[in-house]
Amino acid sequence: MKRYHLTTFGCQMNEHDSERMKGMLESLGYSEAPERSEADVILFNTCSIRETADRRFISHLGEAKRLKREQPERVIGVGGCWAQSLKDEVFARFPFVDVAFGPGQVNRLAEFLTSDSLTAQGYFEFEGFTGHLPARRERTFQGWLQISVGCNCACSYCIVPSTRGREVSRPPQELVAEVQAMAADGVREVTLLGQNVNSYGRDLPRGDGERPGFASLLGMLDEIEGIERIRYTSPHPKDMREDVIRAHSELQSVCEHIHLPLQSGSSRILKAMRRTYDRERYLSRVAMIREHVPDVALTTDIIVGFPGESEEDFQQTLDVVEQVSYDSAFTFVFSPRRGTEAAEIGEGIVAHPVKVERMERLVEAVQRHAKERAQRFVGRTVEVLVEGTSRTDPDRLRGRTRHNKVVNFAGLAAPGELTDVEILSATSQTLRGEERLLARTAV
Ligand code: SAH
Ligand code: SF4
Ligand code: F3S
Repeated sequence: MKRYHLTTFGCQMNEHDSERMKGMLESLGYSEAPERSEADVILFNTCSIRETADRRFISHLGEAKRLKREQPERVIGVGGCWAQSLKDEVFARFPFVDVAFGPGQVNRLAEFLTSDSLTAQGYFEFEGFTGHLPARRERTFQGWLQISVGCNCACSYCIVPSTRGREVSRPPQELVAEVQAMAADGVREVTLLGQNVNSYGRDLPRGDGERPGFASLLGMLDEIEGIERIRYTSPHPKDMREDVIRAHSELQSVCEHIHLPLQSGSSRILKAMRRTYDRERYLSRVAMIREHVPDVALTTDIIVGFPGESEEDFQQTLDVVEQVSYDSAFTFVFSPRRGTEAAEIGEGIVAHPVKVERMERLVEAVQRHAKERAQRFVGRTVEVLVEGTSRTDPDRLRGRTRHNKVVNFAGLAAPGELTDVEILSATSQTLRGEERLLARTAV
């Protein structure tokens, strides 16, 4: 039996796509090799969002090159956003690569492997949904749902519109059927994926009545028996409407967590980023969220050092962080990406030490708030979906709350179970607790 090895970089969409690649390969009769050196087919699902992502991948590719030299009949395949963004150069720069494909062409990998093609092949059309391929889920009780692909935004720093193409939504009936099948398979938590999930449906035909929007999709999925939790990522603040926010308070399975990428707190920089909202509009969305879902966990993405960002602009970002008090935030140093508008801006580049210093201040503020916000869970008993054993302590279990907080706890529940955990302490990153059952028998 032939064996494959797949390494995944990047976002949850790539994790989803990799599960589909694995499902497809296994339906072709391949099995997974534990080590790259033992594989007949060495695959990478790549990301190009920041320079660090590129660099990390290139070092892995070096090893693949060596393995190919040792055993030339091995197939080296590179898929995903990095491959797409270098489609014109990939074979010239990396001649040991046999097959390269973009995120919309994962199905072509099967075509390549089943043909007797001896020459390198590249597939880069924006065509199919990976969601149509069979999946091999990492965890039986959690599923990804690709609701749309691509992005119609034009954020000036971002490579994604060029690597994933224009936005295309999948029809709601198809999504409902997929989630019904997942539920029948034992999935309890579904995460809806798209580059801009809350613009879902705008490209779909109107049919007899209204075009189905994101909020109505949430409603349809909430009704499916067996699905206890629905999450989604990422929404765009410009499209964060009241109906979506209300879904969090009205629909039982929609979790109390919203990831609302800020990027910058300065309206001037937001404009240069082409985010199409300003600071006030963002803050008004946050106010609306807090009004409908007071206990919600809010998380975000922030970029520091965008070209032209002044100390004053940065202060505005810090100020939003202080006002909103996020439960956690991903913070990134601006990275110029090939082909993007922001990479072309020659002037006003923020000096490296300034970026580093701003990042330190930002991280301090983010962590302070994350820690403070997490204290509200101490003393509460919360529902946890058990994911496995704790990474740091094999005697403890690890799971996630509806607010998307990681909990390490003493308990007996099995992975995939929902259980009640009493929270005893909290850091900025994780909660610590005890399964309610144990606490009760202890007295
Ligand atoms: N479609 C999603 C996620 C995009 S990528 C969204 O719009 O929210 C995830 C995050 O990476 C972005 O939110 C942004 O904060 C960051 N990012 C994207 N391009 C970047 C760049 N060139 N430099 C630094 N960070 C970047
Ligand atoms: Fe990139 Fe902006 Fe689209 Fe997100 S919304 S993928 S940041 S272009
Ligand atoms: Fe990376 Fe592509 Fe996702 S660039 S972050 S893998 S959409």
